[in-house]
Amino acid sequence: MLKLDNVHKSFGKLVAVNGVSLEIKPGEVFGLLGPNGAGKTTTVNMAVGLLEPDQGTVSINSNLSPLEPATRRKIGVAPQALALYGELTGHENLTFYGKLQGLTGKKLNERVDWALDFVQLKDRQKDRVDTYSGGMQRRLNLAVAVLQDPQLLLLDEPTVGVDPQSRNAIFDNIESLRGKGRAILYTTHYMEEAQRLCDHVGIMDQGKLLALDTVDGLITSYGGKDIIIAELESGEVKIETNDPVAELEKLQKQGKLLRFRLERSNLENVFLSLTGRQLRD
Ligand SMILES: Nc1ncnc2c1ncn2[C@@H]1O[C@H](COP(=O)(O)OP(=O)(O)OP(=O)(O)O)[C@@H](O)[C@H]1O
Ligand SMILES: [Mg+2]
Repeated sequence: MLKLDNVHKSFGKLVAVNGVSLEIKPGEVFGLLGPNGAGKTTTVNMAVGLLEPDQGTVSINSNLSPLEPATRRKIGVAPQALALYGELTGHENLTFYGKLQGLTGKKLNERVDWALDFVQLKDRQKDRVDTYSGGMQRRLNLAVAVLQDPQLLLLDEPTVGVDPQSRNAIFDNIESLRGKGRAILYTTHYMEEAQRLCDHVGIMDQGKLLALDTVDGLITSYGGKDIIIAELESGEVKIETNDPVAELEKLQKQGKLLRFRLERSNLENVFLSLTGRQLRD
């Protein structure tokens, strides 16, 4: 659905994106994870045709360029910088964007209702957007992206400032879109989100993709050891291991194991081992 091949983008002397390649297939959620300034938004902007790469190519659906307006219209985008009209209501904003996307009549009304439901804003649809909270505006911004039910969705930090309950509802809805075969690129610096939602994760820092794999693949390759916290007759022990099953069998054979808990490593440790820094410095 989306393929970036060795894309580069500089702003003056600053290299914002430095040779990024990735591919997202239908039915896949791809997470681009990295700290502030990593180059995530610049990558998204090239994927949607808002920026032209200095080098490398972007292709949609095998051979279409997002620099063509007709192709760009097929992509749903939730930009990091909100694109909403404060003096219009939520319903009016969606109707406006729906018309821009070519929707009319009954179909337009159906899609607006569906999108409002997607982000749970039906009860506030008649209020002006400048009276919405920050999280509600973020949710309406996401509703614009899904309005046309596009094959490809590019979501740039779609859950910043959104409360946990609404965030969970949004995740469930994103999962249902994935189930319908939509391809989704999702940027975040919340590793818990990436861990829950993404089939593949690219870890980005200083313009480069440092690693790209499934969440489990990344944790196995770069996450370090798992930790077993076991309660024995003699007390509690903490064991760091690459092979928790073997370790637990050993303890059980010794007949000493009462209870245990396994702490799997996480993406935070992956980032730390790749860069020597915490994700959220
Ligand atoms: N239009 C621009 N002009 C100059 N520099 C820019 C421009 N857009 C981005 N940059 C720079 O490029 C780098 C990457 O920025 P980008 O917005 O892609 O990062 P990001 O990973 O999306 O960060 P964040 O998590 O803060 O959204 C930053 O150093 C930023 O200052
Ligand atoms: Mg960004």
